[in-house]
Amino acid sequence: MNNLYQFPKGFLWGGATAANQIEGAWNEDGKGVSTLDMFTGGSIHQKRRITLEMDPAERYPTHEAIDFYHRYEEDIRLFAEMGFKMFRFSINWTRIFPNGDELEPNQKGLEFYDRIFAELKKYNIEPLVTIAHYEFPFHLSKTINGWASREMIEHYLRYSEVIMNRYKDDVKYWIPFNEINCITLSHKAYQAGGIISDENGSLIDLTKDNAQLRFQALHHQFVASALTVMKGKEINPNFQFGSMLTHFTFYPLTCNPEDIMLATREMQMKIYFCSDVLHRGYYPSYSKLFFQQEGVTLQQEPGDAEILRKGTVDFTTFSYYMSVCVSSDPNQEQTGGNLLGGVKNPYLQESEWKWQIDPIGLRYTLHTLYDRYQVPLMIAENGLGAVDTMDENGNINDDYRIDYLREHIKEMKQAIAEGVDLIGYTSWACIDSVSLGTGEMKKRYGFIYVDKHDDGTGSLKRIKKKSFDWYREVIASNGENL
Ligand code: BG6
Repeated sequence: MNNLYQFPKGFLWGGATAANQIEGAWNEDGKGVSTLDMFTGGSIHQKRRITLEMDPAERYPTHEAIDFYHRYEEDIRLFAEMGFKMFRFSINWTRIFPNGDELEPNQKGLEFYDRIFAELKKYNIEPLVTIAHYEFPFHLSKTINGWASREMIEHYLRYSEVIMNRYKDDVKYWIPFNEINCITLSHKAYQAGGIISDENGSLIDLTKDNAQLRFQALHHQFVASALTVMKGKEINPNFQFGSMLTHFTFYPLTCNPEDIMLATREMQMKIYFCSDVLHRGYYPSYSKLFFQQEGVTLQQEPGDAEILRKGTVDFTTFSYYMSVCVSSDPNQEQTGGNLLGGVKNPYLQESEWKWQIDPIGLRYTLHTLYDRYQVPLMIAENGLGAVDTMDENGNINDDYRIDYLREHIKEMKQAIAEGVDLIGYTSWACIDSVSLGTGEMKKRYGFIYVDKHDDGTGSLKRIKKKSFDWYREVIASNGENL
């Protein structure tokens, strides 16, 4: 009898990153300013700020990040040493089209990614490429208000077509937008849509929400994604495209039917809304009432419905760090979270950044997504952000990270035995990098420590943590030795 409790042969073990959080070299070799280059550093107590001009008094963590731009050879060699089968990274749009509206790409930017692909090929590592990981040309925010404008679609398509053509023999797996559902969350118009003005052209007040702009921008992203899928399949019919969700799994706090319905509505509009459009190719019926209640009227062009129908994706990916509860009782204790918090779950522990740790929630999530779409799944992000300290011998014994990952991987194995078609796992972030949420270096995720600190100091030296050897063994044993 087959042992169902094992990872399939060829399972894509690996790690994930994003250009803005690792590359640095923010203005080198012709690179333009990206929206995230204007994000200041912050902390759990102090929100990151968007500045419309560079403020010399501020710290911008993406500008140097961990200097992957100059150190990629060493980093990829270390990934190969761990046995990576897959490496997820994003191409930084502003390296290819610095302002976003040029007609010709920046050769130096392309040459950088040529080198990355060559290096990955050397070690037989399969790339998983995110076309946009919240990195939009800032120039397009200033001139056309980012994704609020339909014109973004043509700029994005020019960019995606250039990279899909150039790397048609290097890449099979593409993700058009990182965490496309992020923009369904209030106050994420800038991060997820590059939007800086309101409908009257005045600077947007980031403390006030604007659902109309956010959902209009999302419609443009849906169309851009579908057109990219269609164009990509023309360029190389073997290309595979993935949806990518930030999956904050919602549980009802109690079996009170009010809580159950609340959790169902949260899952619909904050998670499934985007994956339903990307996988099924049309707007779900449950969104109609939501739009009415939020006062959202979408501008769609004739032909959009057909584009969405034709440009559906092939596989599902998502980031998973935690789960939260929802409750009809407004007085319940709250917890923090990735992009979004919620009601505290009395059965779960929290990380130092107040994210609830829930490995079984990952198995639940895998089941719900697989049941819904019946296409292969990849976990594109999962990991533990923690403060790492070095002992007197220079070792970083991150047993807490190993525990976190081990428990999640066990649940993946169980999900596979229960019938889920899970084909890959790229842990976030395989090397310490700038935190998206807080802009900190102190919040570390990597198997590889980077000597870089929040005050900007540090040698940028790479040091293997205890989890490095542990993950190497996990991959070598195809998930048997946890
Ligand atoms: C995901 C993002 O939401 O969470 C990553 O895709 C991010 O870019 C990751 O880094 C972890 O969040 P944080 O805030 O701890 O960096």
